[in-house]
Amino acid sequence: MSAGSIDQLAELDFASFKRKVKAAYSLDLDAYKRPQMERRLRANMERCGAATFQQYYAFMQADPKLRDEFLDRVTINVSELFRNPEQFETLRTRVLPELFGEKKDLSVWSAGCSYGAEPYTLSVLLDEAAPTARHTILATDIDDKMLARAQKGIFQESEMRGVSKARLTKYFDITPEGYVAKDVLKRPMRFRKHNMLEDRFQTGFDLILCRNVVIYFTDETKSALYQRFYDSLRPGGFLFVGGTERIADYKEIGFESTISFFYRKPYRN
Ligand SMILES: C[S@@+](CC[C@H](N)C(=O)[O-])C[C@H]1O[C@@H](n2cnc3c(N)ncnc32)[C@H](O)[C@@H]1O
Repeated sequence: MSAGSIDQLAELDFASFKRKVKAAYSLDLDAYKRPQMERRLRANMERCGAATFQQYYAFMQADPKLRDEFLDRVTINVSELFRNPEQFETLRTRVLPELFGEKKDLSVWSAGCSYGAEPYTLSVLLDEAAPTARHTILATDIDDKMLARAQKGIFQESEMRGVSKARLTKYFDITPEGYVAKDVLKRPMRFRKHNMLEDRFQTGFDLILCRNVVIYFTDETKSALYQRFYDSLRPGGFLFVGGTERIADYKEIGFESTISFFYRKPYRN
């Protein structure tokens, strides 16, 4: 068989795998950057001895552990509290005062919250800034396992290195299982499974965080997603992106950006 037809077969194999994955898990692999995603999947296939994507899919159907490993591998869960501390400091000193200048109770969304480090960081900052207000923090992820962990609010030492001693003492209990978030942090949280590439977006948010998620998406997917976040914000609200992320076409979408990593929906366009 020629190299060309082997490539074609591999392409058909992958295309059919993508269709099955989309039907079974509502996960659109075309939205993810192909080389990195394929490299990660091939490493998984090698470990379980699958020679083709078809075989890998069949193995996954028979073994839930392989299926969970596949979902983890595509969506990747790495996080910590106060990830990129200088950006959270900007949130605290420049963005939150702007928002609190306009209203008392904030509605915030942490999209792609993983095991919760990001929404718990937000909860600390909101409690410090306005402890008597009734904020809501919607924390969503595509991954059930991560959400179940986030709900418990238990973190390990390595995930807490960005948390000051004072905050640690005030907001966490030290237990044999790890650092457990106190009720005051949990109270504003609502956890929900949500696929940002498929599901409906709630509207009216003052602040949306979508950090270190879109790095795995194609430029086209990113652009469409940022437009949806824009539509989800109330006028005057902010979108906060990750430490290595920029929205290239923010002006076309309608955002203003005067603070790095923050994009504001103007009051009028
Ligand atoms: C690297 S973590 C980022 C966690 C946190 N935002 C941070 O910056 O530390 C990426 C998260 O995005 C989630 N994710 C990936 N694709 C998603 C999708 N289509 N919809 C919702 N969440 C998704 C993954 O499950 C994972 O928990």
